[in-house]
Amino acid sequence: MLLIEAKDYNDMSRKAANIISAQVIMKPHAVLGLATGSTPVGAYKQLVEWYNKGDLDFANVTSVNLDEYKGLSPENDQSYRYFMNTNLFNHVNINKERTFVPNGLEPDSEKACAAYNEIIRSVGGIDLQLLGLGNNGHIGFNEPAKEFTHTTYKVALTQSTLDANKRFFPDSDMPRYALTMGIDSIMQAKRIVLIATGAAKAQAVRDMIRGAVSPECPASILQNHADVHIFLDREAAKLL
Ligand code: GLP
Repeated sequence: MLLIEAKDYNDMSRKAANIISAQVIMKPHAVLGLATGSTPVGAYKQLVEWYNKGDLDFANVTSVNLDEYKGLSPENDQSYRYFMNTNLFNHVNINKERTFVPNGLEPDSEKACAAYNEIIRSVGGIDLQLLGLGNNGHIGFNEPAKEFTHTTYKVALTQSTLDANKRFFPDSDMPRYALTMGIDSIMQAKRIVLIATGAAKAQAVRDMIRGAVSPECPASILQNHADVHIFLDREAAKLL
């Protein structure tokens, strides 16, 4: 695990965007594993800026997102598909048909998960996976549990996650289930970049890096990955 302490949120976002950008420049046909949440917004903004300057070309990039809420349509402004479109895909020249998010509308979740595993397999696996970090140590929507998870599955969100994310659902009930890549799917990515900011993440950051590798802190599994870069601001790093 390589730890990089950034000066602040903007510095962290630029640094993470630099690695994603280098990946796309070195391998124009790269498969990017992408994340949602408030943390990656700055990195996506930076990528759009570099694209507008002519420094980046997404024409041959494929993307697979970590997760999606169960029951939300792509048009719902709280769906992760909508988030990706508005924060990144609508502003760069990526081929939307090569951008994948689990299908939260498929009533048969097992079918949706199997289809998503097949997509990840058929695109040749993930070159670079971007991750945020939940307050409780979750990655994607892999919540603290008794065992590490495997491939894409339907997850019941924990109270901690419902509490952390309900601010995004002021006018409607927050979905209680999601479809998420499993821990094995994430660990199979060739390179992983995790970003975390703010004091609310400090304990999860500590457990991820200094704690035992345990499904009680899903992100701790990253200690076993050969190529992980973790970008933190000072607040998120304050318990290290
Ligand atoms: C959500 C997402 C995660 C994200 C996490 C942290 O639950 N499924 O992928 O990393 O929340 O979100 P934020 O960046 O808003 O703190």
